[in-house]
Amino acid sequence: MKFYIRTFGCQMNTNDSEAIAGILISGSHELVEDPENSDIVIINTCAVRRKAEEKFYGKLGEIKKLKMKKPNLIVAVCGCVAEKERERIIEKYDFVNFVFGTRSITKILDLLERAKKGERFAYFGDHLDELDHTVPRFRLSSHHAWVTVIYGCNKFCSYCIVPYTRGREKSRRMDDVLKEVSDLVKKGYIEITYLGQNVDSYGKDLGDGTSLAKLLEETVKFEKLERIWFLTSYPSDFSDELIDVIAKNGKIARSIHLPVQSGSDRILKLMKRNYTVADYIQLLKKIRDKIEGVSISSDIIVGFPNETEDDFMETVKLVETAKFERLNLAIYSPREGTLAYRFYEDNVPRDIKVRRLQFLLNLQKRINRSLNERYVGKTVEIIGEGKLKKTGDLYGRTINNKIVIFKGVDEMIGRKVYVKINRVSAGPLYGEVVKWDVSRLGRSNLDSYDASIQEDKIQVQGFDPSLQTR
Ligand code: SAH
Ligand code: SF4
Ligand code: F3S
Repeated sequence: MKFYIRTFGCQMNTNDSEAIAGILISGSHELVEDPENSDIVIINTCAVRRKAEEKFYGKLGEIKKLKMKKPNLIVAVCGCVAEKERERIIEKYDFVNFVFGTRSITKILDLLERAKKGERFAYFGDHLDELDHTVPRFRLSSHHAWVTVIYGCNKFCSYCIVPYTRGREKSRRMDDVLKEVSDLVKKGYIEITYLGQNVDSYGKDLGDGTSLAKLLEETVKFEKLERIWFLTSYPSDFSDELIDVIAKNGKIARSIHLPVQSGSDRILKLMKRNYTVADYIQLLKKIRDKIEGVSISSDIIVGFPNETEDDFMETVKLVETAKFERLNLAIYSPREGTLAYRFYEDNVPRDIKVRRLQFLLNLQKRINRSLNERYVGKTVEIIGEGKLKKTGDLYGRTINNKIVIFKGVDEMIGRKVYVKINRVSAGPLYGEVVKWDVSRLGRSNLDSYDASIQEDKIQVQGFDPSLQTR
């Protein structure tokens, strides 16, 4: 049968979709890009904010119309909204055939069989143990791969739905992860990104001394691997050992995503983040002192319950001092089931939230631009990553996560290219190719990209992991 899969949310969802697609393809089903042309539609959802959830409901509306035209269409919903809403989706939407959980993805073939027999159901069994290196994964990129190493989250930040949708932390065994990497390297992959909601918690639950630092130390031994990325890191789990391992190994990306969430200790406490602003700044300093050329990115939530103007100014001060290379900003969104939803009133007025967001956005743009100016006239080493649909230009990124746009030929995708920067924006850098490494032969599957880049913002549509944060 032909299946279409639409993925919302973070890279872990992308990686889950890659496994779902891989398993279905191994079961002789065929991936199609147009739902109109499919027998099965799978929507992999995100519940992190209300807006993310609304995107799913928008898509569901489209699929309902399609089902009216094609009554035999099988519709499945998985991911974080599925976990949050559970049976309610089946009860409310009679055109949805089945719903399944974030830990049930390896069961997709069985679930599909049940649906084909006419059953409507929700399934949330925990089969994470089966999600090992033997699971086939359909990856869009032929040179970069997402590799989830730890599932779930134990932190329970007061605003966050993730611990409820992804369950408790569970690390994969290191030998299993390394087998997956070894297979990837054999297939010609030169970049990988280790994923986890708290990737720097990796190994703690195994109780055998496994850690992200150790995993990275083992991973750098794969000679043909050019770059190793990891995200997302939780500030208080970022160990000195990890900093040392990164500092010592130039193949580990000089890019750390380290969400701070707020610059006010009072708000951090209400958020149940277990560090202070001073701890965070000290960590930044330690990382920057030891790892040359490192770029640090972060996430901030504005308008958290009880956030005063003074709290907000503390966040502004932090953003000014931290000089992040990239910042994701979000307005607080109450999530049913979380502690903040139950105990704190969403009491910052909408217009103030928007003003605070806008203020930080402008501030960060200025910071980005001035950090980017340093690149003008310099030649940077990038790995070609894909092609922009609109202009046909190529893009790639440096080892410290700067996106570079340039004119080139398709063969540069998946290879090292040296680009001299002649123009910058608050987002990507622009330049001309000086030379490139023609030695490595890689496949490219350009046709499946659907990405467009704007000055400051990168938009990703469809099932396309290529442009997400690393
Ligand atoms: N594990 C990561 C992030 C996971 S969610 C961490 O601890 O930082 C990604 C980002 O979404 C968070 O960093 C946070 O900034 C944002 N986010 C999560 N829940 C949110 C909510 N209820 N409202 C607004 N933003 C939220
Ligand atoms: Fe959510 Fe906090 Fe866990 Fe990150 S650490 S996923 S913000 S609960
Ligand atoms: Fe969204 Fe779930 Fe990821 S809520 S951000 S898809 S873990």
